[in-house]
Order: sequence, then C-alpha cells, then structure tokens
Amino acid sequence: MEQKRLIIAIDGFSSTGKSTVSRILAARLGYTYIDTGAMYRAVTLHATREGILRDGNVDDERLSRALEAITLEFKNGEIYLDGESVEEEIRGLAVSGNVSLIAAFANVREKLVAWQREMGRKGGVVMDGRDIGSVVFPGADVKFFLTADPATRARRRHEEMVGKGEPVSMEEVEANVRQRDRLDSTRAVGPLKKTADAIEIDTSEMTIEEEVELMLNVIHARYASGD
Ligand code: DC
Repeated sequence: MEQKRLIIAIDGFSSTGKSTVSRILAARLGYTYIDTGAMYRAVTLHATREGILRDGNVDDERLSRALEAITLEFKNGEIYLDGESVEEEIRGLAVSGNVSLIAAFANVREKLVAWQREMGRKGGVVMDGRDIGSVVFPGADVKFFLTADPATRARRRHEEMVGKGEPVSMEEVEANVRQRDRLDSTRAVGPLKKTADAIEIDTSEMTIEEEVELMLNVIHARYASGD
C-alpha cells in the first residue's frame, strides 16, 4: 500500500531552529520543505525596495496592489521574488526588523495563506511558520510547536548572522527577537499560537539531530502502518 503523504506543520517562535529542523526532516521523509517565513520576508523586501514601506510606515493600498503583481516561488530550497533569488537578502536585519509589521496586514496573510494551502494541498510537505497548525492547515496530520528561551534564541541568531558577515551586536539581536515575539503573538490576524493538538518541544537543550529524531519517532509512531 502506498504510504500516505502527510502534511506536517511546524510552528514556533523565531530562532528556535525551526527552519533547519524542518529542512532536514523534509529531506529525511522525501518531502518538500516550505519556509513560510521566507514568503513574509520576501514581501517585506519588495515593500522596502519599492518604498511601500518607509520609516516604519506602510502604504497599504500600494501593498495590496503589489501582492497582486509579485510572484514567489521556491526552487532548490531558495525563495525567488519575481524570478530573482532573494534567499540571502531576506535574512538581513533590514528585513528582520520590519517583517512583523508587514506580516500583521490581513491582506498579506490572506494572500500568503492561500498560496501556502495550494502548495501543501497534495501532502508530502513540511511547512514551518507561526500559524500553520492553527490557520493554514488546522487539519495537518502532525503538528509540532517549538520553543526555546529568548537568550538561547538570540545567541543562535547572533551566531548565524555573524557567520554571514553581518556586523550586529548580541543586544540588537536579542531586542529584535523579543520584539518579534511580542508582535507575532499579539497581532489580530493569525497570531503565533500553540493549538491543543500540537506537540510542544523545548529545543533549548537539544541538538538539531535530537529534534529531528524526536519528530521522526512521533511521525512513525502515528503513521507506521501507512494508513
Ligand atoms: O520564521 P522567520 O523568522 O523567518 O519568520 C519571519 C517573520 O514572518 C516572523 O517575524 C513572523 C512572520 N511569519 C508569520 O507571521 N507567519 C508565518 N507563517 C511565518 C512567518
């Protein structure tokens, strides 16, 4: 019997290692990985480049029009905005500092959620974000919710950014992580929220490999027989 191709939802705070774990998990299962944060980041980059977002102010009419005009695609694990790979540019502080603002717009969420549902419709996906188990796929086959204490997350994000040659201080990164937590969990539409059926994993003391193993065990325990 052919194995069922599952929808696996992974939500949680920023810098919990979600995307790394999700990418590895997808590879181990032979599934497609969809990084929904990259989609919000790419829209933020577009809004910044076009001056739709300027000094913390957003021109929402132009933002709505831009959403109708842009294309977002994933190719070889990278996100493309209107045919250009923006995978690196979307990780910088300029985008990180404004993405929660853009992600709070209802029309942005509506559009991206519709694209995400389309991408995951046939199953065989690991999708990570903030609202995957609660809004995008409330009926996902397995839901994980990742946490880690803010200092651990700031340290992880700082290492990642410094590793990429971005000159930021630990304080700046920690302030950004805390601010995004607050904005992401308190926004009116699609706030970060653990659903009752999600399995919570505190990753503070875990290695990536341990997280992946734990997730695979949960998935296999539930769906071992391929039913
Ligand atoms: O996972 P990340 O740090 O790349 O996400 C970037 C931002 O996008 C994050 O601050 C919140 C937002 N986001 C969201 O609102 N909904 C999602 N499904 C994914 C990300």
